[in-house]
Amino acid sequence: MRVFLETYGCQMNFADSEVVASILQTAGHSVVTEIGDADVVLINTCAIRDNAEQRIRHRVRELRAMQARNPRLRIGILGCMAERLQSQLMAEEDNVSLVVGPDAYRRLPELLQRIGAVTHSSVSQAAVDSTRSSTFGSPNLGEQPEMLPASDTASDRGSHSSPKLGEVARRAGGVCPKPAPAGGVCQTPALAAVELSTTETYADIEPVRLASNGISAYISIMRGCQNYCAYCVVPYTRGRERSRDPETILREARTLYSQGYKEVTLLGQNVNSYRHADVGFPQLMEAVAGIAPDLRVRFATSHPKDLSDDLLRVMAAHPNICRCIHLPVQSGSDRILKLMNRHYDSAWYLGRIDAIRRYLPDCSITTDVIVGFCSETEEEFQATLDLFRRVRYDYAYMFKYSLRPDTYAARHLADDIPDAVKGRRLEELIALQGQIALENNRLEVGRDYEVLVEGESHRSKERLFGRNSQNKVIVFDRRDARPGEYRRVRVTDCTAATLLGDLIP
Ligand code: 5AD
Ligand code: SF4
Repeated sequence: MRVFLETYGCQMNFADSEVVASILQTAGHSVVTEIGDADVVLINTCAIRDNAEQRIRHRVRELRAMQARNPRLRIGILGCMAERLQSQLMAEEDNVSLVVGPDAYRRLPELLQRIGAVTHSSVSQAAVDSTRSSTFGSPNLGEQPEMLPASDTASDRGSHSSPKLGEVARRAGGVCPKPAPAGGVCQTPALAAVELSTTETYADIEPVRLASNGISAYISIMRGCQNYCAYCVVPYTRGRERSRDPETILREARTLYSQGYKEVTLLGQNVNSYRHADVGFPQLMEAVAGIAPDLRVRFATSHPKDLSDDLLRVMAAHPNICRCIHLPVQSGSDRILKLMNRHYDSAWYLGRIDAIRRYLPDCSITTDVIVGFCSETEEEFQATLDLFRRVRYDYAYMFKYSLRPDTYAARHLADDIPDAVKGRRLEELIALQGQIALENNRLEVGRDYEVLVEGESHRSKERLFGRNSQNKVIVFDRRDARPGEYRRVRVTDCTAATLLGDLIP
């Protein structure tokens, strides 16, 4: 089958889509770059906030028009939203044929084969009744979505046992309540594979680098999270933490380097708790950084409670480990941090910032923050503003709290800050952070950086852009520079988001 992959959400999701592409190609399917050429559209989804889910719902509904023109087109939902909603998704979006969670991607070939078989028989059957079918040609071959049991290979060998078909159906809510659309036919059977694993890392799968620039690539080093921050759905959608065999990570990084890549980003929900036998994250970083001095190494994301001095020492000893640490703070208020179950207070966090500045004086620091979490007072929001003034981040991802069903906060805390207040706090924080980023960037004017050139500037073909070790984007006149090269650039001007510079001959 010809498969079109559409990815939403975090870097992990983009890395997962590359694993999915590899699994599909190995099984003889092709990944197409034009949606119009596809037999199946697989949407790799994000569930982190309600607006991310709404956007995907909208997209799924939008695809109905394509399915009306091409009744054989199938839609599958992958990733965190598939895991969170399971059969509910199939019930509510009746044009969806597949729902596959993040630990079940090895089963995609088998699942595609099954919906492919249904497609062919259903299309021919539907042709008989074509005047009555509305959006889709497939008749209602079975009343319920079928929840597949875990296969032996992908099954969870840890705390969850592999359930029987009926058990999975019950756990997931079971019966598909979706009625056949008026005047048409229900596109069942839909298939779901949503079992979580405590062992799956896709370690042996070489990702297909989708939409790659041939210069930087992601390497997934661990999966899952068990920090259970009170607001966060990730532990429920991605399961327990597990780390990938370091040898397979090193092999992947060496292969990328031999193919000409110049930068790898090691990914995990909480990379600092990477551990495989006696290899922890600092040792892993040291080994990857040792592959070649001109291979840049980045990583994301770090939980402040686990950011160790050992890691900072390794970073200081290896100039090719990039001087940029993303350290989500989430709030500046100790009471809110406790409610969020973050396992640190603001003093501890600021201590980690001091440690970064001690070991790595030129390190850029970025963060994630949530405003309007349950019961956050105006003073507590002020504490977040104060913390931003103290740390002076180079960049921040800033969010309004969004209630996620089944999380601790959804079950035990009231989402009691009015949306207008959340919005106003967010705007205030964005304005402050914009000001800080601009002031930080102004200090860069006159400095020289080694820039890894990535490509043409979006605004002008005459200019190229790249990043310095601190992950700041620098735009400069192209002259003789080419993507993939390291070039020295002097910063001459800036905005809050970008540095402008000149190549140093
Ligand atoms: N509401 C708002 N933001 C959230 N994040 C995670 N869960 C929520 C939520 N329920 C943010 C956190 C996290 C980032 C990836 O998304 O800041 O670090
Ligand atoms: Fe979510 Fe917290 Fe895990 Fe990050 S550390 S993925 S915010 S539970």
